[in-house]
Amino acid sequence: PSPPGSCPALGSGPRSVPGRAAAAFEPGAYLQNNYVPPRADFSCEQCVVPWKLRCLAEAFAGGEIGGRTLIDVGSGPTIYQLLSACDHFEEIVATDYLAVNREELRRWARGEPGTFDWSPFIRHVCKIEGRGEHWQDKERRLRQRLRRILPIDVHEPEPLGAPLRPPADALLSAFCLEAVSPDRASFARALAHVGSLLRPGGHALLLGALGESFYLAGAARLPVVPLSEEDVRGALAAAGFALRELRSYRMPPALQTGVDDVAGVFFAHAQKPPLA
Ligand SMILES: C[S@@+](CC[C@H](N)C(=O)[O-])C[C@H]1O[C@@H](n2cnc3c(N)ncnc32)[C@H](O)[C@@H]1O
Repeated sequence: PSPPGSCPALGSGPRSVPGRAAAAFEPGAYLQNNYVPPRADFSCEQCVVPWKLRCLAEAFAGGEIGGRTLIDVGSGPTIYQLLSACDHFEEIVATDYLAVNREELRRWARGEPGTFDWSPFIRHVCKIEGRGEHWQDKERRLRQRLRRILPIDVHEPEPLGAPLRPPADALLSAFCLEAVSPDRASFARALAHVGSLLRPGGHALLLGALGESFYLAGAARLPVVPLSEEDVRGALAAAGFALRELRSYRMPPALQTGVDDVAGVFFAHAQKPPLA
């Protein structure tokens, strides 16, 4: 991969460059690898996607996490991670380094035909939230609240290029930081950078890969820093977060499909201490 800042061809975007592999990321292939059966099998609560959705649904059902703005870091081409969140914030800010992913999200938010079908995910979240909500109401609400889709680079101390004003009331990030960091130190720094977007007292929810060294997204084979639960705890503490909950999931052999070598998934709920 190119060293940070060595690729002027990417021009006006954020300064550091994640390398050729990231530039070859194919949203459609990534979605097919991760967000269709067997990983997204809603008849099986033990499958990885229902597990992730339940972690998020339960965190928001606690009633503590809410406010004006939630920022999702490294959204990629996906919206599943926003389905429980969108009921608790006036605005959802999605972000990604790659224009191709931001465009995919914009097309979904505008309801353009031919975008990925998230309806099974939305139906499932409505079911586990148990409020009897019609899935199309949730879809409409998320589209309304997804107003800003911004470029971001988590390797920059100022990931959005300027402070978020006002800072976010909550921060969410799924499978981004470890997937864009060459080593654990870089993961910890990236976490501290994105933590600066959150207001004191705000909540952070992280989903991520454990023990993963690569994933595929079409022609791209992307390196990942293999993390342990201890690495996640350490990075959260070093970034000044108080850990509220850490859960993990072991990837069953049936879901090891060759699209990555992920061993498990973690879910962390942490909080930035309020100002004294
Ligand atoms: C594994 S995908 C995760 C996508 C989605 N959040 C999910 O849960 O499936 C990692 C994402 O990080 C984005 N990314 C790559 N380099 C980045 C950077 N320097 N800063 C922020 N995001 C980056 C990629 O474009 C990609 O969308």
